[in-house]
Amino acid sequence: MSTSIARHAIKEVTIIGGGLMGSGIAQVTATAGMKVNLVDMNEDILKKSGSSIQKSLERVAKKKFSDNPEGGKQFIDDITGRISFSCNPEEAVQSSGLVIEAIVENLEVKQKLFSALDKVAPKETLFTSNTSSIPIKDIAVSTQRLDRFGGLHFFNPVPMMKLLEVIRIPETTDETFNSLLEYGAAVGKTTVNCKDTPGFIVNRLLVPYMAEAVRMLERGDASAKDIDIAMKLGAGYPMGPFELADYVGLDTMKFILEGWSKNYPDVEIFKQSEMMNKLVAEGRLGRKSGKGFYDY
Ligand code: 3HC
Repeated sequence: MSTSIARHAIKEVTIIGGGLMGSGIAQVTATAGMKVNLVDMNEDILKKSGSSIQKSLERVAKKKFSDNPEGGKQFIDDITGRISFSCNPEEAVQSSGLVIEAIVENLEVKQKLFSALDKVAPKETLFTSNTSSIPIKDIAVSTQRLDRFGGLHFFNPVPMMKLLEVIRIPETTDETFNSLLEYGAAVGKTTVNCKDTPGFIVNRLLVPYMAEAVRMLERGDASAKDIDIAMKLGAGYPMGPFELADYVGLDTMKFILEGWSKNYPDVEIFKQSEMMNKLVAEGRLGRKSGKGFYDY
């Protein structure tokens, strides 16, 4: 156990939502030595989460233990041994110091969840959302613990991306905020702070850029492939905007733009993308569905 973990107050974390993000968060949290309860609606989803964590850990172990496959296997078993899967969020939070919600980007659903958890979770348990577009305060008001509420915004792929945005609302206490920063350091992320503003730092810049790339494609200015090549070789981005949109998920992109365009109808760069909405309606959600802007 590293010193950062030993110092860290949070020993057990409940992560609600076993999708791409939730699974990644579970992985890095368990890797840092904490116990994890990963919660989703049914066993099938949790099975998929478990296998995506396993695959990701195998990639990590292949690098970390390149000359010691036995050590790599032990490393994976130790981490997965700290992760429990559950379909019952109310039961899962009973002994958790921190809850991280990474479910669908729907305010009502998030409020309903937190309101229920607030009634059963220990008083000192910190509540956070990994929302990419909904104001943290709007979610937090569904609970009686605004002082112990904040935002922890991770990036895909969570095991690789080194950043964690930590968001506080006016009611978040320094103690809560510092615990969230400590948790971030324990899971090996560099933390940045941002006010509870739309998209925080990264998505506020990245999503309009990706939407503008789609508008370029809609106008027929250039092909998706050429725009991707251009941004990789001309701007040094690891992925072009279409590769990244497919990677993040077009449904996620759509949810973000939908929310922003509704809340800020006058902001031109928050406008929804017709092409993206059409692709989502056709089930082209990106890599996870096997097709998006590209076929996989
Ligand atoms: N788990 C574990 N290891 C992984 C991994 C994962 N999910 N993904 C990549 N790796 C590691 C592996 O070691 C892999 O080697 P392997 O293929 O032999 O296993 C190594 O990284 C290299 O990976 P790749 O060959 O697939 O490709 P890259 O070198 O391009 O790296 C990348 C992949 C890190 C995803 C890189 O392309 C990248 O940084 N892309 C941009 C990602 C980004 O911008 N994310 C933010 C999106 S916005 C967001 O998430 C916010 C939300 O609110 C929408």
